[in-house]
Amino acid sequence: MWATATEATPNPSAEATLTEVPEHLLARSKARRAALTGDGDASEETTPATTESTSPEPAKSAAPAAQPAETPEEAEPEPTPPWVEAAESRRKVPVWVVPVLVALPLFFILYAWTLGEPATEEGPLAAGSEVYGVSCAGCHGGGGGGGTGPALSGGAVVETFARPVDQVTWVALGSQGFRDAGETSYGDTAKPIVGGMPAQAETMDAEDLMAVVLHERVEFGGEAFDAALWEDGFEETVTAMVPDHAEEYIAVLDEWKANPPV
Ligand code: HEC
Repeated sequence: MWATATEATPNPSAEATLTEVPEHLLARSKARRAALTGDGDASEETTPATTESTSPEPAKSAAPAAQPAETPEEAEPEPTPPWVEAAESRRKVPVWVVPVLVALPLFFILYAWTLGEPATEEGPLAAGSEVYGVSCAGCHGGGGGGGTGPALSGGAVVETFARPVDQVTWVALGSQGFRDAGETSYGDTAKPIVGGMPAQAETMDAEDLMAVVLHERVEFGGEAFDAALWEDGFEETVTAMVPDHAEEYIAVLDEWKANPPV
């Protein structure tokens, strides 16, 4: 093979360059020469024909193929790899990017806004509202309008219990707790105990129980928090009726007196 190349180029200075020429180039130039002169067999022509189809070089330039001027750089334009072709023909920016970029800041503004909302409402009233929704609304209605249990809204609850402490002990003990204490009625209006109001003292902590009573009085009874009204008979009544948890309820009221809810 090298013998063929050297034969074709008697110029000795070209030899150094030609040692670099890959075999397939030499095969191609040989094939071209054969095609022009009519020499060579068919098998030599078909092999380089495939190479030639990808080459931008016109066929007539094939004659001086073996001359030193034809360095590997000129002779062999790199065929474009398929992945490069795919990258070039692909759309650079997908269509969905623009709406997404527009929507993202809006989304974050809305998100920050919803995060900011509850921060303005916290403390016993918010806690009471949450507890009511979870533990009481099922029987008394979401807005206190009543259901299985009597209505609390429209001032009904503050009418039944003029003193907050009597509502606290009622919610703590429930219908059965009052019966166990020998009562047949409850509240200032002496409502007969029908049954069905579950005791909360053992399932709810003092903060939640006090908070839900506050929520009912403020939201359904239309009564503002009044420390003097809450203190009225508080210690004696809780100590007498709910001795196990009296201290906890007193502690919550002390906290409310120091930092009035609302
Ligand atoms: C399983 C249903 C049920 C649930 C839950 C319930 N209650 Fe009751 N509630 C009743 C019933 C029934 C009565 C009436 C009891 C009776 O006559 O013995 C009542 C009565 C009351 C009353 C007296 C209202 C009045 O004016 O007569 C208050 C206050 C009250 N409940 C508060 C609450 C609170 C606070 C919660 C949540 C912690 C709650 N209830 C959960 C059924 C329920």
